[in-house]
Amino acid sequence: MIYLDNAATSYPKPQRVYDEMLFCMKEFCANPGRSGHEMSMRSGRAVYETREIVSRFFNIENPMRVVFTKNATEALNIAINGVLKKGDHVITTSMEHNSVLRPLKTLERNNIIELTIVWGNYFGEIDVTDIERSIKKNTKMIICSLSSNVNGIIMPIKDIGRIAEDNKIIFLVDASQGAGSIRLDVQEIKADMVAIPGHKDLLGPQGVGALYVSEKVEITPIMQGGTGSRSESFYQRNFFRIFLKAEL
Ligand SMILES: Cc1ncc(COP(=O)(O)O)c(C=O)c1O
Repeated sequence: MIYLDNAATSYPKPQRVYDEMLFCMKEFCANPGRSGHEMSMRSGRAVYETREIVSRFFNIENPMRVVFTKNATEALNIAINGVLKKGDHVITTSMEHNSVLRPLKTLERNNIIELTIVWGNYFGEIDVTDIERSIKKNTKMIICSLSSNVNGIIMPIKDIGRIAEDNKIIFLVDASQGAGSIRLDVQEIKADMVAIPGHKDLLGPQGVGALYVSEKVEITPIMQGGTGSRSESFYQRNFFRIFLKAEL
C-alpha cells in the first residue's frame, strides 16, 4: 500500500512507537498522579519525562506549561475558549483550519468576540502589514498556523510573533502542519501558545497532542473533573495558577 494521507495523520509510525505503546499498556499504564502505588508513580514519571522531551524539542522553558490533549483540535479549543472574554478582538488569517475558524466564528456569532480575518493572496501568502493594520485597542489574540494544510505554504510566524510582542497581544500558533518536520522554537517565534498534534509529523499514535501556554497567559480550564487532589471541593482548581503560586 502507498499511503499519502500523512498531513491528516502519519503512517506507518516507527516500530519504536508501536513497541513503546505496547510495553507501556502491558507493564505500567496506571492512573498517573492519582495514587501512590508503583504503577501509578511510574505512569506519572513517564508523563513528566514526556513533558521534558516536548519542552526540549520546542525550546519550552518550563515543562509544567505543557498541557497534553487528544489532538490539535482540542488544544486549539482550549486556547481559544480558555482565554478569550467578552469584548476581545481577534486577528487570524484566511489560511486557517476549521479547528481555528469554527471556534472563533462561534464566539463571534455569540457576540463574545470581534473577529478580523486577514486574507492571503492567490497563493495564500499573508502580508504581515495587513495584520499590523488590523490591530485595535481591544485586540487580545493573533492566531496563525505554522503551515497551511491546504497548500503547504509556510506562514511568516516570526514576523507575526514580533508584531504581537510589540503590541502586547497573545500569539497562538497552530503548529498542526509542521511540528516535527519544520524547526519550531517557541521562544524564537515569540509564541505565547502553540497547539501541537502528536499524531502527524511527530509520528506518535492517534489521540495525542499538546498545548504550550506561556506564563504570561491567563487561561481558564474549559473542562472540569477529577484531579486527584482537593477532592472535597466542588470546584476545579486552576493548576497553572497554583504553579505560579497565585492560588495555593
Ligand atoms: C492546520 C491544521 N490545524 C488543525 C488540525 C487539527 O489537527 P488534529 O487532527 O490533531 O485535531 C489540522 C488537521 O489536519 C490541520 O491541518
